[in-house]
Amino acid sequence: MGKQGFYVSKALAVVFIVLGLGALATIIALSVVYAQEMNRNTNGGTNGGTGTTTTTNNRPVTTAAPSNEPWDQYRLPKSLEPTHYSVTLHPRLKAQEGTGLYIFTGESSVDFHCKEETDLILIHSNKLNYTSKAGGEWAELTVVSGADTAPTITESRLQTETQYLVLTLDRKLTKNAEYRLTTTFTGELADDLGGFYRSEYVENGQKKVIATTQMQPTDARKAFPCFDEPALKATFDITLIHDAGTVALSNANSVNLTENADTETVFERTPKMSTYLLAFIVSEFGNITDTVDDIKIYARKPAIDAGQGDYALKITGPILKFFENYYNSSYPLPKSDQIALPDFNAGAMENWGLITYRETALLYDPEFSSNSNKERIATIIAHELAHMWFGNLVTLRWWNDLWLNEGFASYVEYLGADNAEPDWGLKDLIVLNDIHRVFAVDALASSHPLSSPEDAIQKPAQISELFDAISYSKGASVLRMLSDFLTEPVFLKGLQTYLQQFAFGNTVYTDLWNHLEQAVQDLEFNLPFNVTDIMNTWVLQMGFPVVTVDTTTGIVTQKHFLLNPDSEITTESPFEYENTHTHTHMLHYKQFLVKQNRLDGPQHGAPDFVLPKKPPQDTPRDAVECLLQIHKTHVNWSGELPQAIPVINRAQLVDDAFNLARAKIIPTVRALSTTKYLTGEMAYMPWKSAINNLEFFFLMFDRSEVFGPMQKYLQRQVQNLFTHYNNATAGYTADAVGHQNQYTQVNAFSLACRTGLTECQNLASTLFKDWMATGVNKIRPNLRTTVYCNAIAAGGVDVWDFAWGQFQKATIATEAEKIRYALTCTKESWLLNRYLEYTLNPTLIRKQDATSTIIYIAENVVGQNLAWDFIRARWPYIFSQYGGGSFSFSNLINGVTERFSTEYELHQVRLSLSFCFCFFSS
Ligand code: BES
Ligand code: ZN
Repeated sequence: MGKQGFYVSKALAVVFIVLGLGALATIIALSVVYAQEMNRNTNGGTNGGTGTTTTTNNRPVTTAAPSNEPWDQYRLPKSLEPTHYSVTLHPRLKAQEGTGLYIFTGESSVDFHCKEETDLILIHSNKLNYTSKAGGEWAELTVVSGADTAPTITESRLQTETQYLVLTLDRKLTKNAEYRLTTTFTGELADDLGGFYRSEYVENGQKKVIATTQMQPTDARKAFPCFDEPALKATFDITLIHDAGTVALSNANSVNLTENADTETVFERTPKMSTYLLAFIVSEFGNITDTVDDIKIYARKPAIDAGQGDYALKITGPILKFFENYYNSSYPLPKSDQIALPDFNAGAMENWGLITYRETALLYDPEFSSNSNKERIATIIAHELAHMWFGNLVTLRWWNDLWLNEGFASYVEYLGADNAEPDWGLKDLIVLNDIHRVFAVDALASSHPLSSPEDAIQKPAQISELFDAISYSKGASVLRMLSDFLTEPVFLKGLQTYLQQFAFGNTVYTDLWNHLEQAVQDLEFNLPFNVTDIMNTWVLQMGFPVVTVDTTTGIVTQKHFLLNPDSEITTESPFEYENTHTHTHMLHYKQFLVKQNRLDGPQHGAPDFVLPKKPPQDTPRDAVECLLQIHKTHVNWSGELPQAIPVINRAQLVDDAFNLARAKIIPTVRALSTTKYLTGEMAYMPWKSAINNLEFFFLMFDRSEVFGPMQKYLQRQVQNLFTHYNNATAGYTADAVGHQNQYTQVNAFSLACRTGLTECQNLASTLFKDWMATGVNKIRPNLRTTVYCNAIAAGGVDVWDFAWGQFQKATIATEAEKIRYALTCTKESWLLNRYLEYTLNPTLIRKQDATSTIIYIAENVVGQNLAWDFIRARWPYIFSQYGGGSFSFSNLINGVTERFSTEYELHQVRLSLSFCFCFFSS
């Protein structure tokens, strides 16, 4: 790469710093070393976090099945369709004598309709053992209607790869007849967080066991034999058999309890629904109820008694009402339960009428929970409640359209939570949490389009891969844009008629576009393009465009924005970014960026902002610089003067500048310069945007010679903010006023400590030592994570061991989580290694938390290599025990390699991954 004007030699840069020429020198030095890093990496091919240079089609069309036999296909044949299931399950909450295993037994019958004649029954079944019926086979087949007698089953076997119970018949089933298939089976109630599984906790010194479920995406087949595809909706009669003194829950209300030695809880029939939304739970939990709306929150009894479910209960009713109004559709079920489980892989799961959560995602205690914990609870509840209609009442036909389901819930969660907590400014935060987040991954050559062809997604592992930042955050971002340019009334009209038409049924994503198109026409909304044309470029094409406005000619052009400008995209795409004249993609931009002179849409509260037509000075300047100039002259320390640039756009400009610099469109100096004005910035979003982007600099430089000067520079930038909150909150012993200010207070503290401000580090140690000395923790919940982390980083084994003791004693998961993170902050290698060993011992660190703990350790500059060596040494074990979870394994690889930037490191990753895949495909 040719050197450009702003690059100076490294030696000169270092001299600058030595001479103490201040901010400018630091910024220049940083950009020089940065450029060198990038050079080194692009020459060799990758990466510095900017992605691989080439990509092959990253959604390979299904690997060829071993044969064309129906049982070797991952998709069910279309011949049979279930209508109704009766399932009785009996989980044993005590280990079996001898084997020590926990098991469940079950009996199930499924009524199905024969659509095409066939002498083969394929039904999903995974890790279940069947008991032979009278004829010696594993199932019994009877006629419900439409035929005189049922064929005889001649063979029963399991096809493990495709997860089927295969039954062959002596003759064909009659077209249009209804049959009933009955089975008896057992399965293991393992601690593997999938299907029907076991969660454990200790209460008053006693071990308690819960039986619970996680079916999505393909684990209902691990609980009972079923046609486990989302379009095969049916009604369900569920019965749970359990010990007296335990409570049984499922999607529907219970109709009766028969008390024998065992209690039998029978549930009402469910509406027509998909198998992945089923839930069965047996526990000794307590609950609190809002009897008016039949809303309940379940959790461990001590948590309920301590009021930890109260906040969730308080906001659920209002959020449900918000969605009833938003969807113009009443809540589809007679009850709404939400339950906090000690062991849970994802954050939460939208089982219809019985939503399951991690404890940290549902339970709130003002004495322990931070404002960030509270916000997560509000948004995650809103997200799952949004699914009760969008996803559950109307379900996408197949997993390839998952992005619409998760993207939609990830967009409207902000609306639902904002309704419950209107003072938090939540709707703005989608910009940081989703838009910026996904820009960073969608700008890589390794990205992929939102939509995948139906036949490209077949295996369970391919389905699990779809739960990624593209589906969630890009999905949310494009839907927000769509709602914005259609205006909310039009968007809602289309959404409402869509839900009405397809209630209890299934759709593809274009069904929603059609309804929106109809709404555009019905409401006579003036939209120059049709919805499908506008959305196709966002949905069928990977990445997003960078738009250049020539401020002298007014000409607007665009190209595919890639963090690594040298990357080659080999994925086929139906569109081209560069064709600026004919594609609606571009016109769309013109209309919404330039014609309306807005940077952000009207519904999000951002005042109009006019892009300057001409730079204010003679020298050519780019938009970033102009805007920051305007801002600087208008903002004062009180933060009250005319905010020339709305807060969202300030955050956006900082993020854009850093990304444009990484893509070599503007000089790195320019991006770093956007941090200069921060000495006068009070708002959360721009600061957070800067901190997020500086994270990359920390990762790249915390082992290099520019780290010292960088620290010094950033310390100066944050000093004002640190002092401000020190004064305003009595030395960080009180909370700032206002939700986002509370975040800023915490960010000020953590950045000050991180950049080595002694006053901050001492304060952290003092606050922590007071806790150690008195046994009373006076640290404000908001600040706990950062105070603990800094105190543990500064302290030795005594501090670490004290914190570990507190972790084990914690009675609320949210406190345990803060300590679990902070324990990874120590600078002692041996403590980090010891902690790494703990992560694979489920009695010390729950399985659900293992991968995130390893990732936190890798974030620590001292822990980076330790974590990398650790996972390579235990690759097979980690993969078999922790690889099944949908988010966790790819997160793990990502997390522990985050600091990697050299050819050598790339080589190591390649080598290790190839070893891993060889191992598991053999
Ligand atoms: N349906 C998902 C849960 C899920 C994720 C199940 C992956 C199976 C595999 C649920 O609606 C969800 O999206 N949960 C998110 C929380 C949400 C606020 C983004 C989660 O678990 O993090
Ligand atoms: Zn979701």
